[in-house]
Amino acid sequence: MNKYRIASIPGDGVGQEVAIEAVKVLDTIADKHGIRFEIERLDWGCDYYVQHQRMMPEDGLDRLMDFDAIFLGSVGDAKKVPDHISVKLVLDIRKAFDQYVNLRPIKLYPGVRTQIRSATPESVNMVVVRENTEGEYSTIGGFFKPNTTDAIAIQTAVFTQKGCERVMRYAFNLAETRKKHALGPGMVTSCTKSNALGYSMVFWDQVFSQVTADFPSLETESALVDALSMWLIRNPDRFDVIVTSNLFGDILTDLGAMLQGGMGMAAGGNINPEKQYPSMFEPIHGSAPDIAFKGIVNPVATVESIRMMMEHFGETEVALDIERAVSAVMTEDRIKTVDLGGSSTTVEVGDEIVRLLKAY
Ligand code: IPM
Ligand code: MG
Repeated sequence: MNKYRIASIPGDGVGQEVAIEAVKVLDTIADKHGIRFEIERLDWGCDYYVQHQRMMPEDGLDRLMDFDAIFLGSVGDAKKVPDHISVKLVLDIRKAFDQYVNLRPIKLYPGVRTQIRSATPESVNMVVVRENTEGEYSTIGGFFKPNTTDAIAIQTAVFTQKGCERVMRYAFNLAETRKKHALGPGMVTSCTKSNALGYSMVFWDQVFSQVTADFPSLETESALVDALSMWLIRNPDRFDVIVTSNLFGDILTDLGAMLQGGMGMAAGGNINPEKQYPSMFEPIHGSAPDIAFKGIVNPVATVESIRMMMEHFGETEVALDIERAVSAVMTEDRIKTVDLGGSSTTVEVGDEIVRLLKAY
């Protein structure tokens, strides 16, 4: 019997609601597929901060080390903790566990409405591979002469050969695999801004050319991030795998979420491909304080993140099973949350996915 240890960090706001649905789905597939999941719930987040003046225990990262994967709900409660402090929980885990790939599939399920006219299930089927440990998120910088009229803030972006190369190789390998399984045409788009950022992005382009040379069977293109944003809306069908730096990827994937029906549909995996450390899976939405604890948050992004976790474990059958169940719920209009034009609750959508998982 395959056995996996999973840490569940519900976090704040809607994160706590969707984490319950995540566990429900895990329990269901455990029974059905004869897998054992040992799930440990870790109540870290802003409430923990209020009590302990830190987002996780001092040995938090050491404790996470023992798990096969981490599920993260969402983090942030600005009334209790400033956002730039609370999100460090996420950023620290990404960096400490060298989760250098932030994998964000952008796919529109049939039956899901989007506000973007160009978006159809046929036209929206891509994956964003976002660099997740360096770039614009390198916490290097400082304040000078603060609170004076000469105040200066400096935030330095760091791009390394190793950091760019490994995430690009991952993207190329992914495009190759997708092509092999007829999921994509075998194309990698590099998101750049080398016209204006003459060091970091010129370097990024150079590394991209080097890696391209090793994958002659794939098509490639470089697109400036501003134009790329426009094309994502105008011609989503031209994209297969997009490789991007940390901040550009952050922005593009919220845009991408709109192509797939909104933030309630978008999932991501923070992956350490070598499996030297646990990877972390999450819905990419935030803690959404405006709708938290009303029972209306869409749990599909969370279920999708569990599907990605199963793919990461190599549990391909289970991943396909989850995809079938989500797809079946989305195709019909019977049970959907308000963001998708329905009136069902979080729990009802979760229950329906579980029911279908059991029924097949
Ligand atoms: C995301 C989020 C995070 C990021 C925040 C919470 C730090 O927006 O995962 O996309 O910027 O990476
Ligand atoms: Mg984001």
